[in-house]
Amino acid sequence: MMANMQVARENSTGQMPVDKVLTPDRFMDYEQEVKGSRLVDLALARIVRDGMEVCDIGGASGVFLGELLNRSKYHFNATLLEVVDEYRVRLVDERINYRLASVLDNDIPDGSFDMITFRHIIHHLVADNIVKTLDNQRRAFEQIFRMVRPGGYLVFQEQVHYVRLFARMVYHMSLLANKMRIRSRFFDAGTVVVAFPTTEEIKCFLDANKSACAFAIEEYFNEPKNMPLRWKLTLLMKNVGDLTYVIKVNGKKGGTP
Ligand SMILES: C[S@@+](CC[C@H](N)C(=O)[O-])C[C@H]1O[C@@H](n2cnc3c(N)ncnc32)[C@H](O)[C@@H]1O
Repeated sequence: MMANMQVARENSTGQMPVDKVLTPDRFMDYEQEVKGSRLVDLALARIVRDGMEVCDIGGASGVFLGELLNRSKYHFNATLLEVVDEYRVRLVDERINYRLASVLDNDIPDGSFDMITFRHIIHHLVADNIVKTLDNQRRAFEQIFRMVRPGGYLVFQEQVHYVRLFARMVYHMSLLANKMRIRSRFFDAGTVVVAFPTTEEIKCFLDANKSACAFAIEEYFNEPKNMPLRWKLTLLMKNVGDLTYVIKVNGKKGGTP
């Protein structure tokens, strides 16, 4: 178990302290799912020269970046931006440059990366109320667009809920279970607080950047997810799925095309 978890600048953003709302040990198994996934292929296809700067946000112990490093024929620079420091000693590949920072609050210069990737982090940017949570999710996209260079790419997958009401109920119930310390191993309840965005909300978070950035969606997949029966029975987690996007950032306002 990870003891005395250290986190990056947790209190300077609206995000609840991650050591109170996440169980990082679990993500080490979860990460393995990415191996051989479409997300790896989509990112690999856009690594086209040596020296490219690639950043995976919320990449835990680096399984995703490790796959890219092993399979790409180019020698690119891989940065993992994580809010939990303990992943640093669990990195799966020593070529990864580990950076302890939050996607919501960091001092990474504008346009630092040719490609930014992330998988399943937006629903973890929870605050103690839904308004601030949605604002965190919006700000995460703002930061990501800021950090990518003109001509660069965003390649990501995010878990969404297709029913807004149920998404909100899952958020409020997981927050309550967390605050009341209600524990259920069967439902993984008690620690993890999640706020799944809807398909439309992800689109809004993206569109909010259109005035600062010209971008084009190159690939888009919307795939319903088959959840374990115990979750489906609650009905709350029946209508969920994964959105996958590949976005080309063509230019930024006031910047070079
Ligand atoms: C569900 S895990 C996903 C891990 C990995 N990307 C994968 O696909 O398996 C969410 C990850 O987001 C990270 N995270 C949460 N808040 C973050 C933040 N503000 N900035 C960067 N990473 C964050 C967590 O530490 C965790 O590793």
